[in-house]
Amino acid sequence: MTRTLAADDAGIAEAARLLAAGDLVAFPTETVYGLGGDARDDRTVARIYEAKGRPSFNPLIVHLPDLEAVERIAEVGPKARALAQTFWPGPLTLVLPLRARAGISPLVTAGLDSVAVRVPAHPLAQRLLRAFGGPLAAPSANPSGRVSPTRAEHVLDGLAGRIAAVLDGGPCAVGLESTIVLADPDPVLLRPGGVPAEALESALGQPLALGGDAGRPTSPGQLASHYAPEAALRLGATTARDGEILVGFGPVEGALSLSPKGDLVEAAACLFQMLREADRLAGPGGRIAFAPVPETGLGRAINDRLRRAAAPR
Ligand code: TXA
Ligand code: MG
Repeated sequence: MTRTLAADDAGIAEAARLLAAGDLVAFPTETVYGLGGDARDDRTVARIYEAKGRPSFNPLIVHLPDLEAVERIAEVGPKARALAQTFWPGPLTLVLPLRARAGISPLVTAGLDSVAVRVPAHPLAQRLLRAFGGPLAAPSANPSGRVSPTRAEHVLDGLAGRIAAVLDGGPCAVGLESTIVLADPDPVLLRPGGVPAEALESALGQPLALGGDAGRPTSPGQLASHYAPEAALRLGATTARDGEILVGFGPVEGALSLSPKGDLVEAAACLFQMLREADRLAGPGGRIAFAPVPETGLGRAINDRLRRAAAPR
């Protein structure tokens, strides 16, 4: 049985107690819901991979309440510090050199000597991290290969019976995963996300190189397993073809819309909800089409997720 915990003192205390006992608890962040577990405990981290059905041990993001807590486990270089000071708490993940004896399970970093860390802004995530008092490993709280959850109900859809509890904080405000950056010595964008690349470049005063997930995929297979709805997906659509559920944006109207007024923040916040909704409307063997979204600001992260969802599988 997976319990739903309310967003109050009692719910947070119970979530922290479960985490301290080595159990898994999904919790809201401003980006998406995370599947949290004690990042210091090998067994707990192994159970995160098991609950998600992750085929391989990709490294996980460690969540901490503030920069001071981050500095206890990782080395924060000058550019990383500038970004942390500008964007934390918030939807930015920094990949940093892991300190010796930081106490982080090697399963979290997949044995790398770097660690991805993030200081979430969501008040419930902050309160939970402080009540728990340790680092939380937290990938998105969905089965591997499925759409990321932006509501407690989405978490239960995918993981009910596999985790101890979900802390219900309602819908996530940003709706896309964090932007991942390797800042020092030379800044590289590893994954587009909730902080637009342009904002990072202006804080750094220099352009970001593209690497990792943000680089151009060399084969469609590299995109295939992520964010997939059941239905087939067509991008850049301005009208619905026969039997398609069209998700509009701005002037392109559909059965649904990411944002009738063409607002990228609003579109990001409802993207995963719309993928689920369109999937449900399309039904078994159905087809979904998405209107074009501009490749600027949050549009870059939105298009990244849509291309993954549309990739051949
Ligand atoms: O918004 C988010 O970031 C959400 C919420 C829950 O905070 N979390 C999330 O975690 O998206 P996850 O585990 O799905 O994303 C992990 C990503 C992977 O793409 C992985 O490649 C990258 O972080 N990553 C983790 N550790 C890394 C490292 N040491 N070096 C490079 N990339 C790393
Ligand atoms: Mg994920």
